Amino acid sequence: MMKGYTFYTSGAPQQPGESKWKYRIRKLFTIKTLDKIEFDHGTSALNRTLGAWDVIMLGIGGIIGTGIFVLTGQAAAYNAGPAVIFSFIISGIASAFAALSYSEIASMIPVAGSAYTYTYATMGELLAWIIGWDLILEYLFGSASIALGFSEYFVHFFEHAFKIHIPPAWTVAPLIYNETTSAFEKVPGSYFNVPAFAITIFLTIILIIGIRESANFNTLIVGIKVLILVIFVIAGSTKINTANYKPFVPQNEGKFTEFGFTGILSGATVVFFAYIGFDAVSTTAQEVKNPQINLPIGIIGSLAICTVLYIAVSTVMTGMVPFRELGSPAPISSAAEKNNMRWLGIIVDLGAMLGLVSGNLVTLLAQTRIFYSMAHDGLLFTKSSKIHPRFKTPYIITAITGIFCAIASALLPIDILTQLTSVGTLFAFLLVNVGVVILRIYAPDVPRKFKVPGGPYLVPIIGSAFDILLLASAHKAAIERLFIWMAVGLLIYFVYGVRNSKVNNNDNVREISKRETNDPNNDGVIEMINVVGDDDGSKFMLSKL
Ligand code: ALA
Repeated sequence: MMKGYTFYTSGAPQQPGESKWKYRIRKLFTIKTLDKIEFDHGTSALNRTLGAWDVIMLGIGGIIGTGIFVLTGQAAAYNAGPAVIFSFIISGIASAFAALSYSEIASMIPVAGSAYTYTYATMGELLAWIIGWDLILEYLFGSASIALGFSEYFVHFFEHAFKIHIPPAWTVAPLIYNETTSAFEKVPGSYFNVPAFAITIFLTIILIIGIRESANFNTLIVGIKVLILVIFVIAGSTKINTANYKPFVPQNEGKFTEFGFTGILSGATVVFFAYIGFDAVSTTAQEVKNPQINLPIGIIGSLAICTVLYIAVSTVMTGMVPFRELGSPAPISSAAEKNNMRWLGIIVDLGAMLGLVSGNLVTLLAQTRIFYSMAHDGLLFTKSSKIHPRFKTPYIITAITGIFCAIASALLPIDILTQLTSVGTLFAFLLVNVGVVILRIYAPDVPRKFKVPGGPYLVPIIGSAFDILLLASAHKAAIERLFIWMAVGLLIYFVYGVRNSKVNNNDNVREISKRETNDPNNDGVIEMINVVGDDDGSKFMLSKL
């Protein structure tokens, strides 16, 4: 069974003539081989049940959320005016290039995981850590942001459907960030965002118990989300007043942020959040039939459908009401109500709540999967990767993630959370774009069923340029927070990960022997380890002799 499995490990002792520093640096670039990854994740073909359409639906499930339901209005009101449509086009282009790059890598390495696993298999442990830690930021704060979106539609729904007013003391973040003083301030009269906190804790419990969304259930909820946006576009387009498009690109009016061209760009960094999520599809690779083909279809297909939908929704919404009135917490349903379409407002509220709950569940699940992979690899508090004996879920990780996320969503405002998520994701996209080029150079012979069009450089370079443009237009404070997050991550890696990495500490050998003998108590070494010499001695061939 194990024949032919090849493991690279810097657990390989320091080689004669290799200096201590060279040895240490070599360890930072140890790769986890595909064999080992497949071994860890299991390769049963029986699990492969998802076809192209399921993958597209999963992608849409991860994409549509707070971005379109909340941020579109804010970007129109405070950044770009009706030209928020251009903001959507710009961030859609940045996402499309990243989607192509993700697709190429996913078609090379069709195993469960994500950019973290791909990077570990190709560019080594340190870079894998950086991207994994960055993905934790993306999913953690992304999920807190979605919980806030839920809270806003929840409040709006009770207010408008039943005239029940839930006081802001318990539905609004108690902290805001003051750009002028660069400090967090307490919002008078607000204490805790109860709906956001409660929904996150509820979903965390569901994830611990292990009721996962089945593909069919997901397809149903995604269908409802899309349908509601389509109904909004069709019904809302009858209320478009072209006067609302003038001026299409408002110029700086002093009171609000910028408008003009810079406003379109900063609006693009705001609505970029709306596109995040198609990458979550890559975490399901193990369950996808013919993943080399269906993953690219799922990634690109879901993004394409959402891009068209977003441009349509923003065009209709900014045509229905003057853009200055769109800065409300639930702008899509407000736009309906301002045009005397109460019925439309109510079904948008309901659909948004349902969609935001499912989006939050997918994001929290993706978060626990990344955290679990990293902990399982020994890079992040290994003991936390314990599986619950009855529920068979990584309960400690799920609880830590859920509690952290719930507290963040209860205390922090939506702009801080979404900006941080967006800059973190832009950074991940940048790494994935660069990764395509690196892999074309260093692993030219690995088969790729999907290749980015136009040769190895065009797509990744244009994609990277868009990522950098959007990062440059993002709030400085968000970039600073990203740096702080990454610095904390590197500290954890050098204090903990480097010493506990399984790939780097030869544990893989012991672990395999346990699995192979099917005996959890067998902690002995495998029968025979045959070292087939690589120059630096870092390549092991396991074979039964
Ligand atoms: N794209 C996701 C959303 O808008 C993260 O909620």
